[in-house]
Amino acid sequence: MQDGVDGADRVRLKRANGDSVDFEVISGTEGASAFNIGTLLAESGLVTLDIGFANTASCASNITYIDGDAGIVRYRGYPVNQLAEHATFCDVVHLLTTGELPTQDQLASLNAGMAEGTELARTLQPVFSAMPSNTHPMAMLSAGVSALSGVSSDAFDAFDDSAAELATARLIGAFSILAALTYKASSGGSLPRSTPSTSSYAGDFLGNLFGSPGDGYESDPVIERALDVAFILHADHEQNCSTSTVRLAGSARASLLSSVVAGISALSGPLHGGANQAVVEMLEDIKSGGGDVARFVGSVKDRQSGTRLMGFGHRVYKSYDPRAAIIKKLLDQVLLQLGKKDDLLDIAIELESVALSDEYFISRKLYPNVDFYTGLLYRAIGFPANMFTVLFAVGRLPGWIAHWRECVTDKQNKIGRPRQLYVGPTERTYQPQ
Ligand code: CMC
Repeated sequence: MQDGVDGADRVRLKRANGDSVDFEVISGTEGASAFNIGTLLAESGLVTLDIGFANTASCASNITYIDGDAGIVRYRGYPVNQLAEHATFCDVVHLLTTGELPTQDQLASLNAGMAEGTELARTLQPVFSAMPSNTHPMAMLSAGVSALSGVSSDAFDAFDDSAAELATARLIGAFSILAALTYKASSGGSLPRSTPSTSSYAGDFLGNLFGSPGDGYESDPVIERALDVAFILHADHEQNCSTSTVRLAGSARASLLSSVVAGISALSGPLHGGANQAVVEMLEDIKSGGGDVARFVGSVKDRQSGTRLMGFGHRVYKSYDPRAAIIKKLLDQVLLQLGKKDDLLDIAIELESVALSDEYFISRKLYPNVDFYTGLLYRAIGFPANMFTVLFAVGRLPGWIAHWRECVTDKQNKIGRPRQLYVGPTERTYQPQ
């Protein structure tokens, strides 16, 4: 089968026997156009095979735009570097989930709804104490979100703006308490009696984690801002693995909470959100093995070893991940503020420099991604490694909510149900063994 453009708005797929099928080309506002293959099977008896959906758009979306070659990420049109410079995470929650930056009144409503959500989530503390303390915090988080459905009266009416905004605010607030409870359950201790009132979502979050019922929590503005910006940088990334999972669950009309649980599971994988924990573990291994970066890079290049340079490479970015540079700057600021030095940072910098000048990585366009330095940032702030992916989830929640809502309210959407190329046995007759 060959392809060729037939006019500006049609694509023709032509088989060697001369049969052809035409498809409509659909243009977005920017980026690649798409041709709609919805009639392909009916018209030609063929399906497309696209492992990992590397070339398949699963939906039309108006939430986030990425140009991987130019290193551009925009939420609802706003460049992520501008949001990281000027906005707060709460601004970005409102932006992603409603389409516009909030007014002061809208921010006040968001904060009020979040406060209600935190109170609701506090009632779930027994769920966390019932789990073995060595349960991974991501597993605890998904159990906590599942349990939230039992105490939440929000049915999340995706078609009603004000109901959806209130349910969003409550879930964003509840999620920060659930994340704090995963930390308390695995490290011991209890939540402070009430959420401390700092100047940001990240400040309140830090207070819930690191405060205790007896002690007040003193927020450090540099640390607080660094974490708030890290949440902003993780807030959405269009059709990544966990967001696609949330949308796929939502396409079956699974509830928002059930779909978020599916997203948490996908995010936990080391090739996705779990990479931030895996990067620090990799750096620790290199350090305990004597700090020989060149030897480690050699093992990555040895295709038999199966070793990957964690925190490097991305499906979309083929020049650089703009979020990685911002995270590295935040890490430097936090280390300076705390007067700390981290041996693992020296190893990471050497690793980055060796990889960026090595033909293996150059030819495959492998650059540091957002997770190369986030683990070190979180470690500098004082989070244990098993909490890193929970922090990613806290940041990503507004993106999941926005995509779930976009999916379930899109009248053209259908249940997600891919085809397959069957390569198993043909029919055989059952013989008792
Ligand atoms: N280390 C070594 N080789 C790599 C790496 C890596 N980190 N990433 C890709 N490659 C090689 C891969 O072996 C393949 O080589 P070849 O063409 O010779 O077979 C080539 O580069 C293309 O890789 P791919 O696996 O086809 O690329 P992908 O788009 O399917 O995978 C990725 C993207 C992020 C899963 C992958 O780069 C990876 O595993 N990176 C390490 C894990 C990581 O840091 N994940 C976090 C991603 S950013 C946060 C998020 O959004 O999830």
